[in-house]
Amino acid sequence: MAAAQGHAWRRFNPGRTQFAWLWRAVWLACLLPLLWLIAAGLSDTLGANPIEYITRATGDWTLRMLMITLTVTPLRQLTGWHWLVRLRRTLGLYAFFYACLHLTTYVWLDQFFDIGEIVKDIVKRPFITVGFGAFVLLLPLAATSTNGMIRRLGGRAWQRLHRLIYAIGTLGVVHYWWLVKKDITEPVIYASVLAVLLGARVWHARRMHRSVQAMTLPDGVS
Ligand code: HEM
Repeated sequence: MAAAQGHAWRRFNPGRTQFAWLWRAVWLACLLPLLWLIAAGLSDTLGANPIEYITRATGDWTLRMLMITLTVTPLRQLTGWHWLVRLRRTLGLYAFFYACLHLTTYVWLDQFFDIGEIVKDIVKRPFITVGFGAFVLLLPLAATSTNGMIRRLGGRAWQRLHRLIYAIGTLGVVHYWWLVKKDITEPVIYASVLAVLLGARVWHARRMHRSVQAMTLPDGVS
């Protein structure tokens, strides 16, 4: 009885209206960093180098949104809250949105659309190469995020394609690690979070594999 009550929270499953409110709250919360940035711009509090400030803020939020998106599956497995999956697309699209703002800041405010300089940077500066790689890999994920595309690709192919998020998260962390000059504390924190999130997936997959084996193998075979 106590055990059943202890796990009551696992059965939490928002109804249609509750979920709609939850989704709105998440959507708005994800927009806050941009609103914050706009407010700082309007009140002239972006510091001595506003372009650097915006590049860094949008880069930070791209990486944070990627990590939050990657948290959905392990959190769902841990809590049994399968409805969390329905928030994943919004979170992933926000990661893409902040990546677009980050890239736009670089291309527009930092490089003034000088394509030659941009290409030179992509080729010559490894941290830009890796960041650009991460952005390119985000494109097919954003393009296939609609229900129509999921249906057209088929669930399995869609899932396989969307495993690119692991590579994107890794490239994002490497991009950050390579661009910092002295204090690597923040990139190390992101790398550790990513390691835990990816490690949790491996651990869960192994556990599932073992329980399937236990169900299919005859007694005495392990
Ligand atoms: C998924 C893709 C990307 C992620 C996750 C990402 C993430 C980041 C992060 C976390 C930072 C550091 C912010 C800080 O210092 O607090 C950063 C900075 C930066 N990123 Fe990206 N980035 C991505 C793509 C790109 C692309 C495509 C470009 C340009 C082609 C780019 C150019 C830069 C530049 C120029 C900086 C500032 C470097 C400095 O301050 O010295 N990033 N990015």
